Amino acid sequence: MNADIARIVLTEERIAGKVKEAAAWLDGKFSKANTAPLFIGVLKGSVMFFCDLVRAMHTPVVIDFMKVSSYGTNASSSGMPKIEMDLSESVSGRDVVLVEDIVDSGFTLARLRELMIGRGAKTFTVVTLLDKPARRVVSVRADFACFEVGDEFIVGYGLDYAQRYRNLPYIGVLKREIYEDETKGIKR
Ligand code: PRP
Repeated sequence: MNADIARIVLTEERIAGKVKEAAAWLDGKFSKANTAPLFIGVLKGSVMFFCDLVRAMHTPVVIDFMKVSSYGTNASSSGMPKIEMDLSESVSGRDVVLVEDIVDSGFTLARLRELMIGRGAKTFTVVTLLDKPARRVVSVRADFACFEVGDEFIVGYGLDYAQRYRNLPYIGVLKREIYEDETKGIKR
């Protein structure tokens, strides 16, 4: 285990099992659709989940990505999600599936829902790896949430702290001294 991790919350095996369930749920929902649904990965956090999810599906899908940033280098949401990179595909008249790593305050999801519906998406489905309802500010919910997590500082499997830890294959709680040191300006 990485030395900066206090405790593993979700093992690689538990994540893989739930990703398969999410993929089966999506197959059930879209296997009879006339046109391939458009799967949107919200960069960067969802990238690991996104790749595992679409590979576990049998339904043909089209993929695209957006980069939305709400946190910057801080540990709490700014409330003003910024679109840093937009889609290359049009969403008009299409079944859109948004793939997130985490729904926290809900600002990002609320913004993207409004944007996709405004752009004429036929349907809008949200799949998230993690749901942290304790931190919700805006009333939004995912259609499929793999795991509900408590209000702890978690990293791994896409989730970062200051851009680090994304490539851990599991999700774990970051040791308090790691982010406390950095907020005090101590360089590690
Ligand atoms: C994270 C996460 C979600 C969003 C959720 O992205 O990937 O997109 O925050 O938070 P919210 O519900 O409070 O809006 P972040 O801005 O940290 O960027 P990243 O995915 O590149 O890490």
